[in-house]
Amino acid sequence: MNKELLSLNRLLGVFDSKTIKNPVLKDEVKDVEIEYISIKGKNTFESSVQKNTIDVLLTFKGKGCFINNEKEHTINSNTIIRVPYDSRYSLFVKEGEELHFILIRKLLDEKDIEVIKSRESDFAGLYFKALEDCSTYKEDIKSDKTVNRMILPEGLVPRFALGSVESEGPDEVGEHEHPMLDQIFLGLNGCKCNCYADGEDEVLVENMMLHIPLGSKHHVKVKEGDKLAYIWMDFFLTIEGEKYMSEQHDVEDK
Ligand SMILES: [Fe+2]
Repeated sequence: MNKELLSLNRLLGVFDSKTIKNPVLKDEVKDVEIEYISIKGKNTFESSVQKNTIDVLLTFKGKGCFINNEKEHTINSNTIIRVPYDSRYSLFVKEGEELHFILIRKLLDEKDIEVIKSRESDFAGLYFKALEDCSTYKEDIKSDKTVNRMILPEGLVPRFALGSVESEGPDEVGEHEHPMLDQIFLGLNGCKCNCYADGEDEVLVENMMLHIPLGSKHHVKVKEGDKLAYIWMDFFLTIEGEKYMSEQHDVEDK
């Protein structure tokens, strides 16, 4: 299981405006580029122009202003943003403030573009939500005490969905496999749980990104007194594979 730890302290001691960008888990998942970006204000981050991609931003810490289609949106930590298809955006961070986020760029294949063209209105607007406002769901492999959130439901980005799982130990996410999708976990605040995949094991902690190998049998355990709290990112190999989401997740209204 390949992993990377993201440092939220990397702007400590930086007093001038600065932007630090690093690729995360580079070339691990097909058609996906992830960058960890930290901005020290006063500074503006401009989106790059790239054809046939959709950007998703997930903020961890700090605050800033997200600008798209001439509208300004205040953003804080723990927010998800799905940028409209084929649209530019910028982020502004004020002097003395900072913002840390990951940029997940989904590369779109021909079928993805067909999906977008067939449902243009679904991809034309901005999807912008605080994580705590996202709908909860239940799943057979998770206990009743887990709180699961659907943060980026299927259909907003072709072949990509994202959610979270939270629980207190002792608890576990039962063993399962899903050969139709590649999965990355991101540890949230206070997370300390054990991830097992095909005989390998790894302790998932906060701000760690962990790649669950494609097709592996995997499960997660948390000990008494510890916390299980992570975001899962599902990257489907094909559009047809997406139906796994609705079969597996029983979303509750919020
Ligand atoms: Fe999984």
